[in-house]
Amino acid sequence: MRMSSLRRPILWFAEHPWFRVAALRSGVWRRFVAGETLDDALAAARRLQGKGIAVMLDHLGENVATEADSRAATDAYVAAAEALHADTALDGAISVKLTQLGLDLSYELCLENVRRVLDSAGSTLVMIDMESHDYVDRTLSVYRELHGAHDRFGICLQAYLKRTAKDVFELPEGAVVRLVKGAYLETPDVAFPSRGEVDATFRRLFATLVARDCTVHLATHDARLVEGARRFGLPQERLEFQMLYGIRTDLQRELVAGGLPVRVYVPFGTEWYPYLTRRLAERPANLWFFLSNLVRGLARSR
Ligand code: FDA
Repeated sequence: MRMSSLRRPILWFAEHPWFRVAALRSGVWRRFVAGETLDDALAAARRLQGKGIAVMLDHLGENVATEADSRAATDAYVAAAEALHADTALDGAISVKLTQLGLDLSYELCLENVRRVLDSAGSTLVMIDMESHDYVDRTLSVYRELHGAHDRFGICLQAYLKRTAKDVFELPEGAVVRLVKGAYLETPDVAFPSRGEVDATFRRLFATLVARDCTVHLATHDARLVEGARRFGLPQERLEFQMLYGIRTDLQRELVAGGLPVRVYVPFGTEWYPYLTRRLAERPANLWFFLSNLVRGLARSR
């Protein structure tokens, strides 16, 4: 079976300004995003923590156009890292996108910004998200260059990319790695087009990461992959299950009830639109949810 065949048209349609206005009006973004401020994110984190779920905060934004914007995004991450470090009751991590920290502008600027986040993180885990294919080399390079600058620092790898089977051997042994299927629109020359190939690669990568002594963050809502990893019986320090805010909360609860470590990725901020369109494109059913919310919203505003 092919990966969602609606992904391309949905992402294309999402470029239209009308779609953006509709997303705002429908309020559907609130299902996937904790809110617009750090306080909203911390409130969501405390609610999750009350259910036995750890969190990873993501200050939304990507592809900033100016150095000043990259520094403002860095400030926001520093504030999030400090807030998590200060709240000892919270098991919190942060996750950064390198294009938000200036990677499109200059590699050196981005490196400096990431270093600043790491320096402020205290004991907080810092992860790097993986963005579209064009950024993979530079993202791996930033990670390798700063590995060792902070005790708790990790990176995301995407199973849909053909190159990942090689990249996995270029990470330091024992690295902290988040394994995902991959969320961007990629072409078949670089990414597996079928779900079967992506899932098979995901399983192989998981086994390789385990063999290389990595700590694996299994970031998927796919119950079959979760079950497969569970059967490995790895100790809790080596395997954590991760899901996105608002998605498969039933599976999150089930894992917690089984005594397994679960962390939820909590996005917040005003730049939620690209994140929302990726969530809609992953699952066509979300589009119907979006459209029905929009119709209800319009009916109410009459
Ligand atoms: P799959 O798409 O096969 O979905 C399995 C099941 O999960 C579906 O049947 C459905 O029940 C549910 N589901 C999945 N997506 C849903 C949605 N949007 N809405 C409602 N239900 C949904 N990607 C990336 O490229 N770079 C990154 O850095 C990250 N980071 C990241 C962190 C974390 C913690 C997670 C969980 C995911 C990411 N991703 C990511 C996203 C990832 O690549 C992938 O696009 C999504 O997780 C969806 O794929 P699944 O593995 O869940 O499988």
